[in-house]
Amino acid sequence: MKVLSADKLSKSFGGLQALRSVDLEIEAGECRAIIGPNGAGKTTLFHLLSGTLPTSSGTILFQGEDITRSPCHVRAMKGLARTFQITSLFPSLTTMQNVILAVQAVHGSKFVMHRPATSSQQTMDRVQQVLEEGGLWNKRNVPVRYLSYGEQRQLEVMLALAGQPKVLLLDEPTAGLSEAERGTMTSLFRDLRGKVTIVLVSHDIDVAFAVADGISVLHMGELLTEGTPAAVRQDARVSQIYLGDESESAHA
Ligand SMILES: Nc1ncnc2c1ncn2[C@@H]1O[C@H](COP(=O)(O)OP(=O)(O)OP(=O)(O)O)[C@@H](O)[C@H]1O
Ligand SMILES: [Mg+2]
Repeated sequence: MKVLSADKLSKSFGGLQALRSVDLEIEAGECRAIIGPNGAGKTTLFHLLSGTLPTSSGTILFQGEDITRSPCHVRAMKGLARTFQITSLFPSLTTMQNVILAVQAVHGSKFVMHRPATSSQQTMDRVQQVLEEGGLWNKRNVPVRYLSYGEQRQLEVMLALAGQPKVLLLDEPTAGLSEAERGTMTSLFRDLRGKVTIVLVSHDIDVAFAVADGISVLHMGELLTEGTPAAVRQDARVSQIYLGDESESAHA
């Protein structure tokens, strides 16, 4: 079943056409990576799908419903989540307290509000589940400012997952991570496979090939090709745009 699709999506910034008639169809449960060199239009696509930027033309459907003009928070409530920025973490609160706030933000209206958070068993069960799934259970009592950069990025993903979204949009989730931290993030995405639909926007092609079921390649605002990792890896046009661009190595 298609959960998210884009039809002829375009975006111009003044005279610059950052995205040109891009079609995308995401199946429920899949992990899709959207790759492409610097300036290809990946982040722009992410903003259009999440609703932080208006489209110039084209349509976005989420579970069959036209959300092209819905604001971010409406998309989020429908189950289309994006990662929080690190700046939205509360640095002096513990990892667990941050997760409690995220779970409450989503389930607040469903759960009993006048009781303190820790007395709601439902909230705490979900908090524990989120921390365990994200591999941060053993860091639950550590104030977030003492977490490593990689752990903070992991926590961002976990906060976005706290509300049990249907689709999670991630922009460059491994940017700035060490080799080891990229490994941890990669295995987190593998663990999430099948539990949530993931659309991962990244120029880190190693991570994309390691986790995605399908890969869409953007180049100069257009969809160059898409297919299984094996098929995309063999596509001569893909190696050419990566190898042809001196600013971007194949392992960037
Ligand atoms: N707000 C904006 N105003 C004007 N031009 C923009 C704006 N945002 C992006 N662009 C331009 O649109 C093009 C696509 O940018 P985008 O950020 O989507 O690329 P990207 O694929 O995410 O690149 P990177 O891998 O470097 O993150 C670029 O030429 C960029 O300069
Ligand atoms: Mg980008």
